[in-house]
Amino acid sequence: MMPAESDPVAPLRAALAVSPDNLPLRRHLADTLLSLSRYDEAVDEFRKLLEASPSSRDIQLALANAFYQSGRASEAAVILESLLDKPNPPAAACVLYARLAIGEGRIADAVARYKQALEIDPDVADEELSTRLGVLPNQSYQEQDDELFEGRVRHRGAGADGDFETELERPKVRFENVGGMDQLKEEIRVKVIYPMEHPEIYQAYGKTIGGGIMMYGPPGCGKTFLARATAGEINAGFLSIGINDVLDMWMGNSEKRLHQIFQQARDNAPCVLFFDEVDALGGKRSDMQSGTARQLINQFLAELDGAEYSNEGVLVLAATNAPWHVDPAFRRPGRFDRVLFVPPPDEPARADILRLHCQGKPTRDIDYNLLAKKTPKYSGADLKAILDLAIEAKLTESIKKGGPPQPILGKDLLQAIKSHRPTTQEWFSSARNYALYANQGGLYDDVLKWLDK
Ligand SMILES: Nc1ncnc2c1ncn2[C@@H]1O[C@H](COP(=O)(O)OP(=O)(O)O)[C@@H](O)[C@H]1O
Ligand SMILES: [Mg+2]
Repeated sequence: MMPAESDPVAPLRAALAVSPDNLPLRRHLADTLLSLSRYDEAVDEFRKLLEASPSSRDIQLALANAFYQSGRASEAAVILESLLDKPNPPAAACVLYARLAIGEGRIADAVARYKQALEIDPDVADEELSTRLGVLPNQSYQEQDDELFEGRVRHRGAGADGDFETELERPKVRFENVGGMDQLKEEIRVKVIYPMEHPEIYQAYGKTIGGGIMMYGPPGCGKTFLARATAGEINAGFLSIGINDVLDMWMGNSEKRLHQIFQQARDNAPCVLFFDEVDALGGKRSDMQSGTARQLINQFLAELDGAEYSNEGVLVLAATNAPWHVDPAFRRPGRFDRVLFVPPPDEPARADILRLHCQGKPTRDIDYNLLAKKTPKYSGADLKAILDLAIEAKLTESIKKGGPPQPILGKDLLQAIKSHRPTTQEWFSSARNYALYANQGGLYDDVLKWLDK
């Protein structure tokens, strides 16, 4: 803390010492601290204010804002979610939530929230947010949807009536190319591959076929990679629906497009239909108040249920970094009824992953077990990044020195490890709150076990 004489808030603090119950004065102090970027002190004061008036939405919002500004996003999120769960939330809470969602890469949520904010109070319009999210404040939503939709469709080069096809892949990667994840591979075999290959056995036991798997966990740990390898494993097609397709859907005509995607998978069966970042599509209904969002979710559920068209031969997989934002309706039987945690690779898996990524590259003297020991908490993507760093360094060296390309050595990789920190920790710090305080029926027990390690 600053010495009293040079601290601009010292007079305020002195006045408060005399009358600690003067709430407007404390509020003034809190706001002043925030404007001086003295976040921890501001948070303290907002907390005291909240103790005095626990149900004040204004103060909850102010505290969330202080958390947000100081970079404590998950704490801000917890407060905002409780504000937004109640009817008639303040428009400013929606705006702040939209900013948070952008920070977490949940663009569709951000769009929905920002639109909601504008519906409640057009005055909260913010030019930067509008541009970023493609939401134009002064137009009717219908017009705007059409305009953006047209723009995007043209960009994709599809027909004027909005028909489009997502590219169907034929992946070459198989389970053997995925390091570790033995348990997950087995779950996928039993739950989706065998039933598809031997439907008669399942039917004999009266087991219904269907239902999908939702994978969640920190980024870079192989969710997308494993989904693609599942298709490769059974020589099936692979349709990957990512955030951009989902965004396109949000911009208009969403139910029709979602239906087209499912039809494309059905037409190409056997096919793995993979929804990446599924939280963008199937956000909690309470999170997404707008009519469009609800309709889209209901359409998604209906397609998953396969009530109208059979999903035979379609394996539905999904991945998310934020399972707590996915509507629980998605977890009912026949839908994503297996929710699996994809942790960072353990030591043997890390050795495997490094070995796999070094295949076909010039290497020498690499002790994979040692490297694995040196990389706790590193994701598969982190390990790949390390190899890329080492290769880059070798390339530069070879070019400078001339002569034949030098092999990558174990010590080059050790060197690279030093310059690349693991990227999984941030995820755990936000997951922790949900696992501890919103562990829906033990859904996140695996995360808790991991936190204890
Ligand atoms: N278990 C693994 N085995 C081999 N490579 C992996 C593994 N996990 C991650 N990777 C590498 O990291 C990249 C990013 O992984 P990805 O599947 O996109 O992670 P996520 O979907 O969980 O965020 C992959 O393309 C792959 O190169
Ligand atoms: Mg992914």
